[in-house]
Formats: sequence, structure tokens, C-alpha cells
Amino acid sequence: MARRSYRRANGLMLLEARDPRMRALKRSGHVAEIHGDRVWDSSFLLMRQLQHEPLERRARVLEIGCGWGLLGQFCAKRFGARVHGIDADPNVLPYLDLHAAVNGVRMTAERRRFEQLTTAFLSDFDVVLGADICFWDSLTRPLFNLIRRARRAGVGRILIADPGRAPFQALASRCERQLDAVSRVALEIRRPVHAAGDVLAIG
Ligand SMILES: C[S@@+](CC[C@H](N)C(=O)[O-])C[C@H]1O[C@@H](n2cnc3c(N)ncnc32)[C@H](O)[C@@H]1O
Repeated sequence: MARRSYRRANGLMLLEARDPRMRALKRSGHVAEIHGDRVWDSSFLLMRQLQHEPLERRARVLEIGCGWGLLGQFCAKRFGARVHGIDADPNVLPYLDLHAAVNGVRMTAERRRFEQLTTAFLSDFDVVLGADICFWDSLTRPLFNLIRRARRAGVGRILIADPGRAPFQALASRCERQLDAVSRVALEIRRPVHAAGDVLAIG
């Protein structure tokens, strides 16, 4: 019997590298350049947090550093959210489109960098989510500035999950010192993956 080329996680399908559609994307040159080559565990940490503290129905969600967009697709499926993703690496976007299609949800996405998200752009969203996006020291400052712009733009809730790397800890500490309504929650999950880390919540 043929081996399955996908696994199920939180009601979503996650295609394996051996799936013919995934292989075709790779063959056509779509190779991630900034670590967006799989779905990272922090996405599942954030899904767990959202199971505990759900989004409002049809919330407008922006997933930053979205990679394949599974987190955004979870929000679309579970909460009927209207979801948009941004990522600096255009090579991840076809994988996002493919996963949105196999999961039967609508998620738009585009190539943009954190630094390019203006207050006007951010004002179209109620919620900003990011999983495993603060992994270099050079990302701490642009992400802090982005969070500040998002608050100014009226974004009600910002959630960033991370396994606990130093740049993320620096980001969280800076948010705690300089912004209102900040909390940091340590989480450990056993399903669909075994993972531990922190969720930084602003708002
Ligand atoms: C470790 S991956 C995480 C992907 C996804 N969030 C997940 O949990 O599977 C980090 C993602 O952030 C993106 N990224 C890195 N720097 C960025 C920047 N300055 N602006 C936007 N996206 C960025 C990368 O291209 C990559 O897709």
C-alpha cells in the first residue's frame, strides 16, 4: 500500500515533501531562503493558545512571516477569520496557496517585509499573529517597531510564539518595558507535535 503523503494536525492537512504537488513546486525552483521550508512548531503553540482564547468570528487576521500559512488557515477554518499573510520570501507563497487549497480555506498572501507594513496597511486588521519569526538579533528591532505601529493602527491583539530564542526574549522584554497590556505565557504541547515555548501577547 502507498505511504500517505500528508498528516493531519488540528483539523488541517499538512503535506509531506514527498507529495507530488510539493515535489513539483520544489522542482520548479520554489526553495525557501529564510527558513520557511516547513511548518514550525511555534505555529502549533499559537494554535493551542487560540483554542484557549479564541478569536472573534470573522476577525481580520494578518499572519506575519507566514511561511506556508498553516496558522492563518487554522484561524480561517476554526473561527471563520479573514486571513492575509505576508512573508519576505516569495518562494514560500506557492506552498501557502497549495495548503489553503487542500484545506479548503481562503487565505491571501503577498511578499512583504516586516519593515514595509505601514500603519495604514496594519489598520485593516484586528489581529496580528506570528510564529517563530524572531530568530535573528537583527529582527528584534523591526518587529518591535512593527508591534508599535500595529497598536497605533488600532490592532486589538498581537500574538507572537517562539521556542524561546534570545532575540525573541529581547523583543518580549522590550515590549514589557515600553508597551501596555503585555503578557508572556509559557506553553508546552504534546499534540500534534511535542513542543515548548512562549507566547507573547500584546492587547
Ligand atoms: C522560521 S520561519 C516560520 C514560518 C511560519 N511562521 C511557521 O511557523 O511555520 C520564519 C519566516 O519568517 C520569514 N521572514 C524572515 N524575515 C522576514 C522579514 N523581515 N519580513 C517578513 N518575513 C520574514 C521567513 O521568510 C520565514 O518564512
